[in-house]
Amino acid sequence: MHKKIALLPGDGIGPEVTEQAVKVLNAIAQRFGHTFTYKTADVGAIAIDRHGDPLPEATLQTCLAADAILFGAIGHPRFDNDPAAKVRPEQGLLRLRKSLGLFANIRPVAVYPSLAHLSPLKTEKVEGVDFVIFRELTGGIYFGDRNRTATDAYDVCAYSAAEIERIARLAFEYARNRRGKLTLVDKANVLDTSRLWRAVVSEMARTEFPDIRFEWMYVDNAAMQIIQWPADFDVILTENMFGDILSDEASVLPGSMGLLPSASTGDKTALFEPIHGSYPQAAGQDIANPVAAILSAAMLLDHFELNEEANTVRNAVKEILESGIGTPDLKAARTVGCAELGDLVGKAVVGELANLQMGK
Ligand code: IPM
Ligand code: MN
Repeated sequence: MHKKIALLPGDGIGPEVTEQAVKVLNAIAQRFGHTFTYKTADVGAIAIDRHGDPLPEATLQTCLAADAILFGAIGHPRFDNDPAAKVRPEQGLLRLRKSLGLFANIRPVAVYPSLAHLSPLKTEKVEGVDFVIFRELTGGIYFGDRNRTATDAYDVCAYSAAEIERIARLAFEYARNRRGKLTLVDKANVLDTSRLWRAVVSEMARTEFPDIRFEWMYVDNAAMQIIQWPADFDVILTENMFGDILSDEASVLPGSMGLLPSASTGDKTALFEPIHGSYPQAAGQDIANPVAAILSAAMLLDHFELNEEANTVRNAVKEILESGIGTPDLKAARTVGCAELGDLVGKAVVGELANLQMGK
């Protein structure tokens, strides 16, 4: 199979973790006889520096012409505390999501048994945690009408039934291939948009997906349940802003933010990115954890329906983590750098890991 992949490494640790994901994709290509070609483009703060725009037109064109996008991270501290900044790195990502119609953001949260002790929760609470958040990504308060004067501001949250239905359908179908449970998270006791979500999704549960165990939960309660009973969730479906917050909450369960991948799919080219940010303090030091980026590449392979290849990547990562090797955040028996971890996963993919471990 031949696929064109757009690489958008972005800022901070983005480039170094993306490089490891590419190593692993190349190892997959070698083992399974595929050809992946890459085209790199600027996004985020680096694109502001180089082109005055966090999403230059050339980058968008590269993405539209590709079969999938591997995204690193964006953000730079110099923008973080400047409410007056006219251009911000985040605008690049938001415009990219909107331009590509990436309405479904899929964030799996699973805990590796061998790393469960790193979780801020008690080990018995996180054992068996394995859920997926479906976050609506191109609507709601992120993209509504907004305005600010010196003394007043507003952000409008709007949703149409059609916007809700299309992501709900993906989430229900996903649940069908898992443990068959879907939790809709909303704030229907207060918000009209949430009442629409509740009405649309409940009706779909009743008419189209009677085989799925459907439940709903208020977002404040869900924030609590994710900490108290995280293993009870299977598929969580929610709107843009609630999904942003809950997925960050959930991301700490496995013990490091550096472990979790994500996929954003929709109308045009799908995008795959680690859920962690640009972590500027660590940039260039070879200490970043590339696992989230590598697992994002696995989700990219799934998107190409290369499921055996994707599982090969996931198994390689698991094998290495379970053997006690990891980046500094994992406090492993043997600590390695970002690049070495990428090398090791690549070796494991092509079946050369055993030799390497023996000679360590
Ligand atoms: C995320 C990020 C983005 C979001 C930011 C960078 C705009 O936090 O992907 O979750 O809020 O969606
Ligand atoms: Mn976020």
